[in-house]
Amino acid sequence: MANGLRFRESQISNHLNFAICRLPFEFASAATLGVNPSPGPRPLVKTPSRATLSPRGRAAAVGGERVATSGRDRAAVIAAKRAASIASLCLAFSFVWLVLSPAIRIQQAHAATTPVFSSDIAPILQKNCLACHSTAAKMGGFVMESYDLLMKGGKDGPAIVPGKSEQSRLIQMLEGKVQPRMPFGVDPLPASDIAVLKVWIDAGAKGPVAGEASRVLAPLAIPDIKPKVPVVSPIVSLRFSPDGSILAAGGYKQVRMIDRVSGKATRTLEGHADYVRSIVFSPDGKFLFAAGGPPQQWGEIKVWDVATGALIRTMRGHKDCIYSLAVSGWKAGRIRKL
Ligand code: HEC
Repeated sequence: MANGLRFRESQISNHLNFAICRLPFEFASAATLGVNPSPGPRPLVKTPSRATLSPRGRAAAVGGERVATSGRDRAAVIAAKRAASIASLCLAFSFVWLVLSPAIRIQQAHAATTPVFSSDIAPILQKNCLACHSTAAKMGGFVMESYDLLMKGGKDGPAIVPGKSEQSRLIQMLEGKVQPRMPFGVDPLPASDIAVLKVWIDAGAKGPVAGEASRVLAPLAIPDIKPKVPVVSPIVSLRFSPDGSILAAGGYKQVRMIDRVSGKATRTLEGHADYVRSIVFSPDGKFLFAAGGPPQQWGEIKVWDVATGALIRTMRGHKDCIYSLAVSGWKAGRIRKL
């Protein structure tokens, strides 16, 4: 939207420039034509009557004849010369304006909108490319875990030509102009993501500046350390079922269903990606929604059938874990279609 607006704005300004430019140009051509530099006696030619009516310079040149050397015509020639110099000044000025103003505008637009590597580019690559272009997978010999590696390219050399998105193989492959299309085997990137990458490349494909993370692309390497002795997970979330018969306790990668009367865990719902930080029952008590997910990676919600303990669905999204959950507009039976 913003780009569209800016684009239109600069189009308008180009039209204006064009209008400004045309005026002196007509003056200039008229004046240039009217000035006859050859000195010496000239044959007396009756100045065409149009000469006095229309701009002098142009009229004087009609038919390519030499103009009469009468005082009046000399004055016309001087006036034409003056007009010529004013016109060429105007022409020069509007030419400079014509050339500079879009450049200034583009610069201004870029200053405001040029995508930034760490906040705009890295997340797109991390989400869509890293699975296959990490040090571990290294498909096509291409690792994108850091800006330097990204610029280095893959087995066919650099895939990004700074300033030239159209010539960058990375873009050509995203657009399907070079096969295989990337990301490989899945849906193409949204046009808006490709557009962001293109603007960034066209603006010089600048790397992280001082203070910005330089290895933002590397996936978090979190070691899976197993405890040597069995540990009971701490409780990070709690919720009673609507009828008060079950207390659900969310812990690390699990939810324990505790019978309110006996105080014993009757069932453990396993398989959550990380701590279950929020639990909600459906208003009819039939389903349990458990939310969490690994911090800094994604959010996760698992939907469980309370009566059978069956997992109905796992939803993942966002770029961080979920801390709280609420159910609204509940309609029994809807859950199966989630
Ligand atoms: C599912 C795996 C997969 C994903 C995801 C993926 N790629 Fe690839 N990529 C490949 C494979 C495989 C190759 C090698 C293709 C070949 O050479 O035939 C490759 C090659 C490339 C190359 C060419 C490297 C070279 O030097 O030849 C580029 C550029 C590229 N990918 C960009 C991307 C971008 C950008 C994304 C994310 C938007 C992406 N890929 C996502 C699998 C993937």
